[in-house]
Amino acid sequence: MSTATEALVADVRRGLGARPLRLPPRWLYDDVGSDLFDQITRLPEYYPTEAERAILAAHAPAIADACDAATLVELGSGTSDKTRLLLDALTDPGRSHGPLRRFVPLDVAEATLQDAAVRIAERHPGLEVTPVVGDFTTHLARLPRGPEVGRRVVAFLGSTIGNLYVEERGAFLGALADSLDPGEWLLLGTDLLKPVERLVAAYDDAGGVTERFVLNTLRVLNRELGADFDLDAFSYAPLWDPRLGRMDLRLRSDRPQHVRIPGAGLELDLGSGEEIQVEISTKFSPEGVADELAGAGFAVETAWTDAPGDFALTLARRV
Ligand code: AVJ
Repeated sequence: MSTATEALVADVRRGLGARPLRLPPRWLYDDVGSDLFDQITRLPEYYPTEAERAILAAHAPAIADACDAATLVELGSGTSDKTRLLLDALTDPGRSHGPLRRFVPLDVAEATLQDAAVRIAERHPGLEVTPVVGDFTTHLARLPRGPEVGRRVVAFLGSTIGNLYVEERGAFLGALADSLDPGEWLLLGTDLLKPVERLVAAYDDAGGVTERFVLNTLRVLNRELGADFDLDAFSYAPLWDPRLGRMDLRLRSDRPQHVRIPGAGLELDLGSGEEIQVEISTKFSPEGVADELAGAGFAVETAWTDAPGDFALTLARRV
């Protein structure tokens, strides 16, 4: 069994072996899921991608000048689409510092990662592009480090950090700080708190793309573990959790059903209306971001938002 499948089995046993039922969002992002997420980023309701792109378009040169990095690492890189703005600024020969030498995208979706790496290498002939297949919560040790790699800036964009539970965020930021040397950088994208109507619309689009994306996690279990989830027997049920400040994306069983997951040695009885949590998307305040970073050993250098204040991009230094 591959280590990825072992991790899936462990997650499924833990998440579906006890109540409340939940599946870690990592399993949404196989190559099909990555493609559906890419479609989400182009939906009119889904504002975060364009908001972050606007910040990068306005401030990538300032970011490049502030961090003087030889290597750009991107965690959960996906298609690396917005990253182009950063790469263009970091490789600009007119920059005051030497140009970027290396780009290291890290993602679990291997085909998506390889496609992005090829595209970027073509666009930046002088750049060494060394993709790493891995999960940003467990595989930080796979990132290159050392004198030949030089000073690194780690970009973690798209508010992907909002997928983590609060205790996981602390552990992740701590592990990331441990994997960096003092003076290296983190560039963190975070979606900000805003009126609930816009949040709900962003995660419940009229065209049903988000529903297909969330249902894809059951398809992954059917394929990888021989499960027999009937995708037609589930409805997408997103909700805003005001106490925890997060969107809570769930699948609801439309009827009582028995599901077999042989690859995980598990059988599951779902009641009518019973829900499986598949993803959370936490929303932040700028102060909250600065506090969490400080708690993990980072000092905020500069934080930028887009004009409406929907999204923040924070450059922080490992102290
Ligand atoms: C990729 C985790 C940032 O939380 O907004 C979008 C994922 N899920 N619509 C988000 C997502 C449903 C997205 N992140």
